[in-house]
Amino acid sequence: MSKLKILFATGNQNKVKEVQKLVENDEIEILSLKDLKLDNLDVEENGKTFEDNAKIKAEFFSKHTDLPVIADDSGLVIDALNGEPGVYSARYLGETLSFKDKCKIILEKMKELKSIKDRSARFVCVACLAKNGKIILCKEGRVEGYISFELRGEKGFGYDPIFFYPQLNMTFAEMPLEEKNKISHRFKAFKSLFEEIKKLPELTREVSNS
Ligand code: IMP
Repeated sequence: MSKLKILFATGNQNKVKEVQKLVENDEIEILSLKDLKLDNLDVEENGKTFEDNAKIKAEFFSKHTDLPVIADDSGLVIDALNGEPGVYSARYLGETLSFKDKCKIILEKMKELKSIKDRSARFVCVACLAKNGKIILCKEGRVEGYISFELRGEKGFGYDPIFFYPQLNMTFAEMPLEEKNKISHRFKAFKSLFEEIKKLPELTREVSNS
């Protein structure tokens, strides 16, 4: 029986590898935009929620292939900043500023909040599946933590140096990638998405017929 091929609509090859690892023992093969020569296409992520943006991407790319398509959107939500940077995580404070500087500005904005309980935050990821331009399902993953008082760690990317994960007493940037990938918002969203995908009869039927 051949594997169920799914396109992961992201330009980020690290994410592709992360998600490929998640299903390496399943009857699912993850292809990238590059693999399908669709990496010249782009769509504006102008939604108001993570789910809106994940749907926009999944829907758009599924109009360009017959394969089922998955897409995600993620970001950091800080309660004390009214949910900022939220869906604007990538573009927050301008595209030219480094993430190190964005992290420093966030710490500055929160400098009066001396108690950890006032610094609650979470990473959120929504992953959606679409086929032939229609959304089939979406799943959300979250990881709860706090904004640290200083930048800590050199690993990871984006807001990792200020996202403190209390269970392991370290920021995401101090955490080995294998550890982060076991607990992350993306891991949780994709894990539950794949669990549902494996139950979908119309997708699995196509695999056994091919
Ligand atoms: P996207 O889902 O690739 O569009 O990610 C949006 C933005 O959210 C990224 O550019 C990062 O700034 C932030 N982000 C999402 N996930 C993480 C993470 O695991 N660590 C740090 N930053 C993240």
